[in-house]
Amino acid sequence: MNENHEASLQVDQNGKLKHLITLEGLSRPVIESLLERAERYGQEPLSIRFDPSQSVALLFCEASTRTRMSFSLAAWRLGYPVVNLEPDRSSLAKSETLEDTVSTLEAMGVRYLVLRHSQPGIFKTLIDSPGRTIHCISAGEAHRSHPTQGLLDLLTIRQHFPDLARLSVAIVGDLAHSRVARSTFTALRTFGVSDIRLSAPPELAPHPGDFQGAPNHTLDEALLDVQVVIALRVQTERLTDTPTINPSHYYSQYGLTSERLRRCHPDVRIMHPGPIHPGMELAPELINSRRSLIREQVRNGLPIRMAVYEMLTS
Ligand code: CP
Repeated sequence: MNENHEASLQVDQNGKLKHLITLEGLSRPVIESLLERAERYGQEPLSIRFDPSQSVALLFCEASTRTRMSFSLAAWRLGYPVVNLEPDRSSLAKSETLEDTVSTLEAMGVRYLVLRHSQPGIFKTLIDSPGRTIHCISAGEAHRSHPTQGLLDLLTIRQHFPDLARLSVAIVGDLAHSRVARSTFTALRTFGVSDIRLSAPPELAPHPGDFQGAPNHTLDEALLDVQVVIALRVQTERLTDTPTINPSHYYSQYGLTSERLRRCHPDVRIMHPGPIHPGMELAPELINSRRSLIREQVRNGLPIRMAVYEMLTS
């Protein structure tokens, strides 16, 4: 399944964004507009008017705290009613197809579907359906894409390093399975970040064609004088095709430690999409250190998701 195909399906015939499935193919002005909206939401007090016509259904077929809560809170802040569909207690558990489930929500007038799913390509069948009125938003699709995480990472980085063309970023860890890495990489490339260094253990290295063919560096090469380090979560739930990863061995080889940070730029900032395995991907003392942008990433998730809702219907 080709992500470029979904990229073309997420815009309507007038070029307007109708769904948000992937950051692939999104132009810099479109992303810029999302970031500007998010910046405004991050600063302005809101006067909420309840708007029952803008209802949101959340359907998370994989676990989540940050994404699910912030999509929910973002909707509440905009005055949109939110309903949660629990996969195990819905008719999906009685073999209803996802397409029928979405059509059912649509018939009730639901305006947005926020979906997290483990199946690559799941969104194509949903958005490539004639007469689709619901706006589909990916909250994470398999290992492929997590567009709102890519946007909030880009926003967080740009707030600290406005001159993105001169920025160097290392993305370290489970590149094979990380949808966050793919979306954040795409967002950074779209905004002209050329020095993005990838570093993964051999058993968690991406396929050669992924990440636009960017090479895999050793950890030492990746960290040298870099200004931002994004440590990735080891996707333990997706390791079916990989030998078991020993946490202490991983930490000794690829963990971000205070010692390793000394090889980076003196003003280096640390990021992690969460949830974290402390003492595996990252030293526990770094999580809330002055170098860490992890809480800012979480905070920025809310205005980014408000901006996405608003942009899809404006
Ligand atoms: N970053 C992220 O997607 O976290 P959750 O799985 O908690 O939503």
